[in-house]
Amino acid sequence: MLLTPRLIAPDSAYKDSFADALAEGLGETPADPDEIAWVREDFDDWLRADNDMSRRIILADGREVPRVPFTTLWLVMGQQFLGRISLRHQLTPDLERVGGHVGYAIRASARGHGYGQLMLRLALPHLQALGINPALITCNDDNQASIRIIEKAGGKLQDTITVAGATCPVRRYWLTI
Ligand SMILES: CC(C)(COP(=O)(O)OP(=O)(O)OC[C@H]1O[C@@H](n2cnc3c(N)ncnc32)[C@H](O)[C@@H]1OP(=O)(O)O)[C@@H](O)C(=O)NCCC(=O)NCCS
Repeated sequence: MLLTPRLIAPDSAYKDSFADALAEGLGETPADPDEIAWVREDFDDWLRADNDMSRRIILADGREVPRVPFTTLWLVMGQQFLGRISLRHQLTPDLERVGGHVGYAIRASARGHGYGQLMLRLALPHLQALGINPALITCNDDNQASIRIIEKAGGKLQDTITVAGATCPVRRYWLTI
């Protein structure tokens, strides 16, 4: 068994661990119990829907916008799902304000062990392979852990902006790979 954390494409071998992570807390908002059940019961169908480019994104101000092409990678160790990182292949005017090229989350029970930092570092070659350099990374002004992750990776603060419907100002960083 590989006990070194590594990035992989989403894989049904980790579906129960991923569902457990959704249940304990992965993103900034709690997961929908129906989605957790979907992952457990029909992972392939859930994954197809998760990758469906026709699915719309609902922004903080309530607007619905199309998705941009993206790559999702999972940080796993042994049999355990630890976290998820999404690489957006292009920016839109909305993503230039919030979201940027990269979004990430570590499951609640695995936070504070350096996995967030490691996951971003492991994702850098993937960004480069996608031709994304520099990468825009945004985070809430009150998200101390994310600020540390971005700054330790070498992110340079462009500015801090106010975003309609958002709970707090948003920091925008550029990271040269
Ligand atoms: C943000 C997040 C990914 C951090 O993951 P993590 O694995 O806990 O982070 P790390 O353990 O790699 O820690 C990174 C740095 O933040 C610090 N840190 C961790 N948790 C912290 C906290 N609650 N408050 C302040 N600093 C914190 C760590 O000490 C470390 O800094 P150091 O290297 O100087 O010691 C995780 O908290 C998360 O998934 N949050 C919900 C989703 C989210 O906010 N995503 C980011 C959107 S921009």
